[in-house]
Amino acid sequence: MMTATYLVTGGMGCIGAWTLYHLVRQGKRAVCFDLNDDRHRLDLLLTRDEQQQITFVRGDLTDTALVRGLFETHGITHVVHLGALQVPFCRANPPAGAQVNVTGTVNIFEAARHAGVSHVAYASSVAVYGPPELYPPGALAADAPVAPRTLYGVYKVANEQMARVYWHDHGIGSTALRPYTVYGLGRDQGLTSEPTKAMLAAARGEDFHIGFGGRMNFHYASDVAQQFVAAAESNADGAHAFNLGGPIVAVAEVAAIIMAHRPGVTVTCTDDVLPFPSGCDDAELRRHAPVVYATPLEEGIRATIEAFTRPATSA
Ligand SMILES: NC(=O)c1ccc[n+]([C@@H]2O[C@H](COP(=O)([O-])OP(=O)(O)OC[C@H]3O[C@@H](n4cnc5c(N)ncnc54)[C@H](O)[C@@H]3O)[C@@H](O)[C@H]2O)c1
Repeated sequence: MMTATYLVTGGMGCIGAWTLYHLVRQGKRAVCFDLNDDRHRLDLLLTRDEQQQITFVRGDLTDTALVRGLFETHGITHVVHLGALQVPFCRANPPAGAQVNVTGTVNIFEAARHAGVSHVAYASSVAVYGPPELYPPGALAADAPVAPRTLYGVYKVANEQMARVYWHDHGIGSTALRPYTVYGLGRDQGLTSEPTKAMLAAARGEDFHIGFGGRMNFHYASDVAQQFVAAAESNADGAHAFNLGGPIVAVAEVAAIIMAHRPGVTVTCTDDVLPFPSGCDDAELRRHAPVVYATPLEEGIRATIEAFTRPATSA
């Protein structure tokens, strides 16, 4: 029997670093695949010694042959596909966004098919949906109609549709998780990274202004990573796309929680609403997943501010 080997694409990113952190803690064999070899996020979570348990491969997801070879060379059995360009990068360079986010994902499915990997866990996003006015009030169910208002969201919809075809045509099962606003150590880029930047500022005793408002789900990066590992291990039949849940909270409330942890610091936000729904419900995920990781918001924010206050590799 093959030793379980987990491929984490985008492993140098925020959710990727947390995924590697959990795999290392669980003693699992992990391959980090990323275009970037800057370990600053990983260094927040694991010592260089601990990182020696990880195999690092630097490469581009858009390189079909390279991705295919990766599965064969490393005997990949489980996949957490996170590598992507986020909203601002897709907005700045739409063709690059399509290449990385769509071609990169079809490369992963093709490689899984050739390597006989039966299930792929990958990151979709709340951005498959449109702005709040398109939907009834309340948390959105997973089967609410998709209506992306960003190219990034369009690319994520393409991936979800592609995953369905891979199931029907080739029997490759898949689980897409659709996070909203992920926060925690390492969340330093992307449209919804500002609440984490506010936590970092607060840890340093500095004020911060968040450039948006409205209500949304907040997910602790550690929980999201664990959910991805569980999804990769689920081996479920079918092509699933699950919303992540968690509390639906106003950005202003998050600002208030941060300020309560660091009296003297001021965190403000605007009233501008992002082009995404005002919150999702994870009932469908709960029906399928044996465990749903859900650190309470107050606890996740406290842990994040405290970790930002400590030196690196002590998360
Ligand atoms: N962070 C969030 O709030 C959030 C919300 C919804 C969905 N997501 C999705 O989750 C996934 C991970 O998000 P994140 O916050 O960790 O993002 P991130 O930007 O921190 O990390 C993405 C990683 O992908 C890598 N990458 C980019 N292009 C690549 C390429 N061509 N080849 C190989 N690697 C490449 C980057 O170098 C980076 O390390 C992404 O697919 C993102 O779209 C994130």
